[in-house]
Amino acid sequence: MEVFSFHNPTRILFGEGQIHELGHDMKLDGISKCLLIAGGGSLKENGAYGQITKSLSNAGITLYESWGVQANPTLDKVREIVTLAKSLAVDAVLAAGGGSVIDTAKAVAAGVYLNDPWHAFTEEEKVHAALPIYTVLTLSATGSEMNGNAVITNSETKQKWGMFSPLVFPRLSVIDPSLQSSLPFKQTANGAVDAIAHILEFYFADDKAISTLAINEALMNTIMEMTDRLKQNPKDLVARANLAWSATLALNGISGAGLKEGDWACHGIEHAFSALHPEISHGEGLGVIFPAWIEYISEKEPSRFVRWAKKVWNEDNIAKAVRRFRDKLQSWEMATSLRDLGIKQNELPVLLDMIMLQPEIGGVFKLKKEEVRSLLMLAF
Ligand code: NZQ
Ligand code: ZN
Repeated sequence: MEVFSFHNPTRILFGEGQIHELGHDMKLDGISKCLLIAGGGSLKENGAYGQITKSLSNAGITLYESWGVQANPTLDKVREIVTLAKSLAVDAVLAAGGGSVIDTAKAVAAGVYLNDPWHAFTEEEKVHAALPIYTVLTLSATGSEMNGNAVITNSETKQKWGMFSPLVFPRLSVIDPSLQSSLPFKQTANGAVDAIAHILEFYFADDKAISTLAINEALMNTIMEMTDRLKQNPKDLVARANLAWSATLALNGISGAGLKEGDWACHGIEHAFSALHPEISHGEGLGVIFPAWIEYISEKEPSRFVRWAKKVWNEDNIAKAVRRFRDKLQSWEMATSLRDLGIKQNELPVLLDMIMLQPEIGGVFKLKKEEVRSLLMLAF
């Protein structure tokens, strides 16, 4: 097992109705003026907004609001909210929504202390302070509610890049699975694929972290079983709750313990798809590239992939396991090729250039430009 350091400072309040604790906890932290950051309005439909305003008002916290964060969030929006947060002199941000809203809130929280929030992503400036971050999660997918990552698109340069800082772990996140009953199944499935992809990014890194691999197998199997149940019945709250908690565990440090830094080639590649076409959801893009990546890399180093085929798919053969993976994605009505995603063949060179803007593609299995090109062709 590789050496590792594990520390997760985020407090989780899990379960139906837990938002009512939020204001009280924020008050104990000394918060009195807070900026709500939200998306396009699903928050009002799923009932979270009413519960948030009530909880904060009961605690005597003044709440300002900034709406309109889009899926695959942009730097322009981050800059706009940084200006607002500074002018209001708020002492915390509250992100209520999915990963896009939470990532925006993290970039804002750090960005108010930088010359430009984008510098946190290019590492031109070190994140040295951040406003306290609170979240109410309404879509289980990214794990952003319990990690120190944020991913933002610079639309001008077409870079969709990530940052990490221990200073942007949320202080407290509320995960109320009942808020997710309003999700269309497609969005639930996007989230499930993203969570599976987070586990897979670590899974093939090392074969000696057996306890972490076993946890990861249980998480992948649970995510698939719960998603199948939700396809049958979107109101299945037991399935919602277990999918939600599995997705949080998929990227909060637990799934990577002893597995080095993971690989992350597929994430680096997918981020270019959704930067070029913001209408492509991150999870669906990953569902296209991950099976192709497994096919491509496992030809070179089959041993790491045999365990996955056996433990997750009960197959002795990697090719059969990949086929079962794609069948599962298809049963969730997900795209399984770049063509299905709406990407045109003449866009592949553009995508390749965008992908190669990153300093490195892959950690465990590093990919050169020619290899990324071959992989894109395989996924096309
Ligand atoms: O804007 P609203 O109205 O809130 O609608 C959202 C949005 O349209 C909707 N939605 C959210 N909760 C809902 C709901 N609709 C109905 N009922 C609800 N309860 O869902 C749509 C998608 O939301 P979004 O936040 O974009 O999805 P997700 O949580 O999948 O976040 C994806 C973003 O996170 C990044 C991705 O690249 C992408 O930009 N990632 C962040 C990571 C992290 N911080 O650790 C890691 C990931 O690998 C990923 O890169
Ligand atoms: Zn992801």
